[in-house]
Amino acid sequence: MHLLLLTLTLLTPLTLAASSKRGLVYIHPAHPTDLTTYTSSPELIWYYNYSPLPAPGLPSSLSFVPMLWGSDTSHIPSAFPGQIHSLSPKPEYILSFNEPDEPTKTGGSSMSVSTAADLWGKYLAPLRKEGYKVGAPAITGSPRGLAWLADFFKTCKCEDDAAFVAVHWYGAFEGLVPFITNVSSTYPSKEIWVTEWGLPGADAKTTETFFNQTVEFLEGHKNVSRHAYFGTFRSDASNIGPSAALLDKKGGLSSVGRWYLGESKAAGAEKGDAVRGGAFAGWWCLVALIGLWAMG
Ligand SMILES: *[C@@H]1O[C@H](CO)[C@@H](O)[C@H](O)[C@H]1NC(C)=O
Ligand SMILES: *[C@@H]1O[C@H](CO)[C@@H](O)[C@H](O)[C@H]1NC(C)=O
Ligand SMILES: *[C@@H]1O[C@H](CO)[C@@H](O)[C@H](O)[C@H]1NC(C)=O
Repeated sequence: MHLLLLTLTLLTPLTLAASSKRGLVYIHPAHPTDLTTYTSSPELIWYYNYSPLPAPGLPSSLSFVPMLWGSDTSHIPSAFPGQIHSLSPKPEYILSFNEPDEPTKTGGSSMSVSTAADLWGKYLAPLRKEGYKVGAPAITGSPRGLAWLADFFKTCKCEDDAAFVAVHWYGAFEGLVPFITNVSSTYPSKEIWVTEWGLPGADAKTTETFFNQTVEFLEGHKNVSRHAYFGTFRSDASNIGPSAALLDKKGGLSSVGRWYLGESKAAGAEKGDAVRGGAFAGWWCLVALIGLWAMG
């Protein structure tokens, strides 16, 4: 009986924590102390930083997902397999090209389908054979992105190789729903990762409504397995407007920051509180049980 109780109290919080989908789109902060803000969240389970190599200073509790960003000279694809092999622990997932359908001046890797298919065959297909789960290139949330991805899969004949599809979304909630619905009906056998999402340039109230609706939708959608809200900067350094940032001007968490990290009773963060509450209760049960055992 004691053993059963002990097993239950220990397992419950772990099981809940493992169901989180949330990650961090990590952008190197202008203020290094901002890093510590992200180390104590019960909700965050993973991060990526547009790079094959991890960011210094982030805790190992956040699982790192390396990315082959693009084909330009600062992201040398031929170095990629070696960089992946050097990683410890061995990553489970790999992200491929970032917004290949978007021009570089607005943050995309601007790759033709044929270049991307060629690099996939040379560098990513072999990693997939080694057991890594490689994601399809992360497309923008637009008809152009969907068209690029369809064309890519046709050219590389690698749709079965991609462990998941990756998409971005910037815009209103009303547009996100049909977009994700399109992706999940176009690729019904694939998990979906939303590796960047946000609402640029909106006021605080609109941003907060959008944030709450989107978190609830993504976390309730059974085909969406991971997502990452954009981004980790302070409000005065945000390139999508001050209200979207996870941090305020002084480096404290903004409202959406608190909710995303699960540090308040946000609609999407209740699970985080339950996890911490569960872990707390579990800890006291354990102490009580050990006390009983010692007395008996
Ligand atoms: C998804 O969007 C693309 C591009 O707008 C469109 O051609 C296609 O018909 C849509 N598919 C579904 C299943 O809605
Ligand atoms: C989710 O994926 C399953 C297959 O795993 C598919 O049958 C289904 O259509 C997808 N669901 C939604 C809501 O898109
Ligand atoms: C978003 O959710 C939080 C937490 O539940 C709540 O305090 C806030 O009022 C909500 N904001 C909006 C605009 O829906």
